[in-house]
Amino acid sequence: MSVREIVLMGDPVLRAEAEFVEDFDERLVALVQDMFETMYHAEGIGLAAPQVGISTGVIVVDLRREDEDDQPLAIVNPSITWHSKKTHKKPEGCLSIPGLEEVVERFTAVRVEGFDPDGNAISVEADDLLARALQHEIDHIHGVLFLDHLSPLKRRMLLKKWKKLEADGFEEP
Ligand code: NI
Repeated sequence: MSVREIVLMGDPVLRAEAEFVEDFDERLVALVQDMFETMYHAEGIGLAAPQVGISTGVIVVDLRREDEDDQPLAIVNPSITWHSKKTHKKPEGCLSIPGLEEVVERFTAVRVEGFDPDGNAISVEADDLLARALQHEIDHIHGVLFLDHLSPLKRRMLLKKWKKLEADGFEEP
């Protein structure tokens, strides 16, 4: 296992539609292990494969930092097959966009279907923070960043802040 480098906004891999995983092999298992390790190292609660530069449909989520009863989740080829009508707004950040946080509207609850790293079909019903994290990570599989959910004005303000952070080498708190 090893900590991989997290790619930052501006890298085209974050804007690509990720490939479907077809081979449930040792490479996939190693990728999932590295993604967990990378996420824990960065103190995040979710990570998608494109964020370590691998354009495939793999996400990991672990909310135990927020709720210790939670279970770590790795989902291959995840898709949202149901969502609540209700939405809610909460602040969100992204390991690929360090230093930025903004309120994003998400579905309150979702059902996500996909596969575990061994190739078994799985279905996860989630609400609140887990639902939010899953929607955020699945967005990454489709080249979508949380900024894309904001109004053009908000997005412009955040991009301005991002350019400054980038120029300062992310030294600012
Ligand atoms: Ni993210």
